[in-house]
Amino acid sequence: MRLLILGTGAMAVQHAEAFGAIAGAKLVAAVDPHTERLAAFSERFEIEQRFAGLPDALDWDGFDAVANATPDNVHYETTMDCIAANKHVFCEKPLATNQKLAAEMTRSADQAGVINMVNLLYRGVPALQAAREMVLAGEIGEVKHVEASYLQSWLTQPSWGDWRTDERWLWRLSTRHGSNGTLGDVGIHIIDFACYGAGLDFTNVHCRLQTFPKVESNRIGDYELDANDSFTINASFNNGAIGVIHSSRWASGHQNDLALRIYGDKGGLEVKCWRGGHLVADPKYSSLRACKEDGLTTGTWRDVPCRTVPLNYQRFVDAICHGENLEPSFATATRLQQILDTSFESHAQNAALSVVSGDL
Ligand SMILES: NC(=O)c1ccc[n+]([C@@H]2O[C@H](COP(=O)([O-])OP(=O)(O)OC[C@H]3O[C@@H](n4cnc5c(N)ncnc54)[C@H](O)[C@@H]3O)[C@@H](O)[C@H]2O)c1
Repeated sequence: MRLLILGTGAMAVQHAEAFGAIAGAKLVAAVDPHTERLAAFSERFEIEQRFAGLPDALDWDGFDAVANATPDNVHYETTMDCIAANKHVFCEKPLATNQKLAAEMTRSADQAGVINMVNLLYRGVPALQAAREMVLAGEIGEVKHVEASYLQSWLTQPSWGDWRTDERWLWRLSTRHGSNGTLGDVGIHIIDFACYGAGLDFTNVHCRLQTFPKVESNRIGDYELDANDSFTINASFNNGAIGVIHSSRWASGHQNDLALRIYGDKGGLEVKCWRGGHLVADPKYSSLRACKEDGLTTGTWRDVPCRTVPLNYQRFVDAICHGENLEPSFATATRLQQILDTSFESHAQNAALSVVSGDL
């Protein structure tokens, strides 16, 4: 499988490392309008074909699949062009900036018969997969309550770069530059973490967003810093359970920490994950604890061993090899987008809203 990498920023490096290590996948081309970044990336990964724009790469046509690692608001247009050229697409999350566009991408990909998957990275957390298996096997009974959080602190400390000066972080703070803030960025991860882990779907959300003042006049150069920094969602699920999902970029002390607690009438589970990137696949960076059976009366939690699961990069290559789409698909990402859109609307109306099943 000959792979083109679209966008050569931070996430593209992870794509190149991961795909480069998979037998049967070959990085053949890279695209980025940012000349220096494209050159440095292509040198590093020994990629010969380099293009400043997707149209030139499509004219060349020497590839079978695309890893789309462009900013959120570029996914729709570029992915649609790739689908029209019959290329398989592995797209970064969020698939699009709203459910309508995501649904259009899903319909087009399905009609074209191309493999379409989205990098919901945390599906690769061994503890999440093990927790889901335990829930689906009935080990904690009927789920009643869910608690999920995604905590980052890149607004309070500079270990990932300084958002005041680095354009890579600045676009994430500005809606006009294509960001839907924390909810649009990592919100999709933690919403998926919660419903996938608990084996449930969202039926109702009441969301609150907050953007905190950061600099004088809330503007740095061209960037108006208006995207949300924190959110909380009160949720209802399709089995009647309720839950709380929240995230912040102001969570001092947490670099990139996800947690999920699932409480059923026969037991409880706690998933924790404290790394990002490929490291999520390593069982030493996540944990699963369970309290059930004889542990219930004493509140005794026991560690549950978890086995490694393939990351989405491997699954995408497998899907192309077998000619059959795998999860997480565009359709799944479209459903998540519906939950996100409803959450934004809930904040705007300051009301609890039903998450309808959106058209595909
Ligand atoms: N799955 C995950 O866990 C995860 C983690 C981080 C980021 N992401 C997602 O990955 C995507 C990229 O994020 P990033 O952190 O790498 O951003 P980034 O800003 O570091 O890189 C994006 C790159 O895309 C390039 N670009 C812009 N328009 C383009 C176009 N039309 N064609 C080709 N290249 C174009 C930019 O010049 C830049 O080099 C975003 O959608 C983000 O939400 C996902």
